Amino acid sequence: MKKDFKEEVQSRRTFAIISHPDAGKTTLTEQLLLFGGAIRAAGTVKGKKSGKFATSDWMEIEKQRGISVTSSVMAFDYDDYRVNILDTPGHQDFSEDTYRTLMAVDSAVMIIDSAKGIEAQTLKLFKVCRMRGIPIFTFINKLDRQGREPLELLEELEEVLGIQSYPMNWPIGMGKEFLGIYDRFHNRIEQFRVEDEDRFIPLNDEGEIAGEHSLKDNNLYNQTLEDVLLLNEAGNDFSRERIASGELSPVFFGSALTNFGVQTFLETYLQFAPSPQPRNSDVGEVDPVSEEFSGFIFKIQANMNPAHRDRIAFLRICSGQFERGMSVNLPRTGKNIKLAQSTQFLADDRSTVNEAVSGDIIGIYDTGTYQIGDTLTAGKKPFQYEKLPQFTPELFVRVTAKNVMKQKHFQKGILQLVQEGAIQYYKTRTEDVILGAVGQLQFEVFEHRMKNEYNVDVRMEPIGSKIARWIENEEDVKETMSSSRSMLVKDRHENLVFLFENDFAMRWFSDKHPDIKLYSLM
Ligand code: G4P
Repeated sequence: MKKDFKEEVQSRRTFAIISHPDAGKTTLTEQLLLFGGAIRAAGTVKGKKSGKFATSDWMEIEKQRGISVTSSVMAFDYDDYRVNILDTPGHQDFSEDTYRTLMAVDSAVMIIDSAKGIEAQTLKLFKVCRMRGIPIFTFINKLDRQGREPLELLEELEEVLGIQSYPMNWPIGMGKEFLGIYDRFHNRIEQFRVEDEDRFIPLNDEGEIAGEHSLKDNNLYNQTLEDVLLLNEAGNDFSRERIASGELSPVFFGSALTNFGVQTFLETYLQFAPSPQPRNSDVGEVDPVSEEFSGFIFKIQANMNPAHRDRIAFLRICSGQFERGMSVNLPRTGKNIKLAQSTQFLADDRSTVNEAVSGDIIGIYDTGTYQIGDTLTAGKKPFQYEKLPQFTPELFVRVTAKNVMKQKHFQKGILQLVQEGAIQYYKTRTEDVILGAVGQLQFEVFEHRMKNEYNVDVRMEPIGSKIARWIENEEDVKETMSSSRSMLVKDRHENLVFLFENDFAMRWFSDKHPDIKLYSLM
């Protein structure tokens, strides 16, 4: 039976995957896509080496370095749900990109390598996640390998991340002796490397195997029973409400590579993950089931397909229904735009999307019209969604084209990459271009893409770390306040910015010019 609009919206589950590089994000994503029938063969990392790449790794540099640099989007259907997965760059140098992606989802899945636990970079990404207050589901991966004690991992999760956890299942052994998971939520055991019918063993009301079974004599099984008893007595209570508010993280154990526990994870996740949530705007909260179409752009990416040289703006639909060819308003400029060329990301192929509803992510072909954070509306009264935060960059380089004849390409490349939000742009009084980044890798990606996509070799002269501060009362700033230690530049919106050499220089400046009101971004 065809769903009505409201049912369509409520069947959406839109989430981001966050993890430290190598924890298994790509592997898990591919398994999920396989369940959804979205891809036929998983291009696992093994495949990567033979020249087949994970669907989510689009860009050249990602392939070469084996890291995910920018977030990509994939959709698939499972049961009655439409699942939208947004991949995020695992590396903390791209946490700004991750943050923007998290603005576009309703929940997040955090993957942790059971041998490594919480790593510094996971911590940073997690914090970014907490700022949004969205539900976080944890998948502890690689149980087929010897890892750390599960109780220790949970303790670390709670202590380091400051979030309470509820283990939905619990491993029975690990590594060579991994036997499966004790599924507290379904009251069953799921056996590792056991074929279909025998895979699940139902448990009785006491949470034990009823009747004869070889596992009953196994020490690992008995150890798990003890652990589970401890969790039942001393652990957190299960609470759907606290999961929804992001205070309690349901934890799943499994092994993405051997596709164990992934389906159980997916099915349970779908039950508890929120459907599209209301979003704040300058006219108050917008209900996802209200019929007037609206959404915002959280990402722009040029040259996703080098053969086409196209540029795509990723739009999160926040209310109403998208129909191809519809007219929308871009409140930032007041322009009306017809959305004729659009695409949805059904994993193995980009396919034209004709219809999509709140919660879905669509790609719109962009010829330079959009900026990150733009709202699109189709109702009578245009409004704008909350601004997407920009991080305050800490690293800076002065950049020029090695070949002066390449100025045009150089300017075009910079303009596009800056509009994508890949890097921040400043210019000095003498029109020198300075780029700012949150992490060093952003510069490397910039250099690589300038060469590969715009055919320009750039020279990058590091000018070190700086403290960037914007100015509330720009009218009071004078050129003479600029010095080598407090360089006055303009950002890409022509706002004035001081780049201070260090804390000391900033304090010195503030003492000397107490009337100038400085502020930082996020
Ligand atoms: P990422 O996207 O989070 O960076 O991780 P990815 O899925 O690429 O996985 C990183 C490595 O971990 C890969 O190994 C992958 O096969 C392995 N891996 C993922 N899930 C599991 C699991 O459940 N169990 C085990 N044992 N390994 C898992 P690799 O091919 O050796 O990677 P590399 O050495 O080429 O980086």
